[in-house]
Amino acid sequence: MDYQAILEEIKNEIQPFLNEGKLANYIPALANVDDKEFAMSIQLFDGTSYHIGNHNLKFSIQSISKVFTFTLALNHYGKDLYKRVGHEPSGNPFNSLVQLEYENGIPRNPFINAGAIVTADSLVSIYKKNTFNTILNFIKKTSNDKTLTFDEEIFNSELAHGFRNFALINMIKSFNNINNNIDDVIDTYFKQCSIMMNTSQLSKSMLFLANHGINPLTNEEILTVSKAKRINSLMLTCGHYDASGDFAYKVGLPGKSGVGGGIVAVVPQKMAICVYSPKLNLQGNSLVGTKALELFTTKTGLSIF
Ligand code: DON
Repeated sequence: MDYQAILEEIKNEIQPFLNEGKLANYIPALANVDDKEFAMSIQLFDGTSYHIGNHNLKFSIQSISKVFTFTLALNHYGKDLYKRVGHEPSGNPFNSLVQLEYENGIPRNPFINAGAIVTADSLVSIYKKNTFNTILNFIKKTSNDKTLTFDEEIFNSELAHGFRNFALINMIKSFNNINNNIDDVIDTYFKQCSIMMNTSQLSKSMLFLANHGINPLTNEEILTVSKAKRINSLMLTCGHYDASGDFAYKVGLPGKSGVGGGIVAVVPQKMAICVYSPKLNLQGNSLVGTKALELFTTKTGLSIF
């Protein structure tokens, strides 16, 4: 298959959609980007990669970080983790508070903000003051890239405007599902969201999920086969919040989005993909990114269905 030609076609076909959607503005620093950017990377198991657009441009990975933190936590706690965070789609926005109260502070899944905050808390219990460094080092390992850092300005912007996340963590704490100091946990969560990566780095970092938990470039086992299956399933059913059904319907791949405009997707046994375009649809997922991935699976037939 001529992946480069397919990427060129996709770039042409998404042009009209670059006018649609809106930048995330509830974190002011996220609005400081060129809203017409588009980049897409495909990473194969043999190290070959294909790119279109500005694939060296870094953006904050935001909720894509939740895949890495959940991987770390699942590796450590195994199925005990599900006592604190579920594995059902929420059908609600990523920052919603409503279910948490009547479900006793147990978030529906690890990819909504509430679930990622509980996951961050579970990591703070293990790694204490070293939690963020452990997360960053883990992402460096999966992407085979030692240069990754987080963006102070985005981190501070989230901290200054994170009213919803503070409400979530306080609500969860009231149900005794946060074991550590709120500020330590929220600091970890905001820092993981403000890690900066480009589509090339992100597509590499997801390869282990396409290959039964083993990074095909280094042969390192990141996760067991069974746990890799679980995370892919969660990406398919919960990776796009209340648009997860729509993403599965249109794209047909496990995927995870972030409000920074990135989406990662996994083609089992074949490749990992990352697309970036910062304007979002109503559910907070990259509008053009979703369209580009839909075009990709339509043109290649590479969906899981
Ligand atoms: O906590 C927040 O609201 C953001 N740091 C992350 C949310 C997010 O990426 C939702 N994604 N599409």
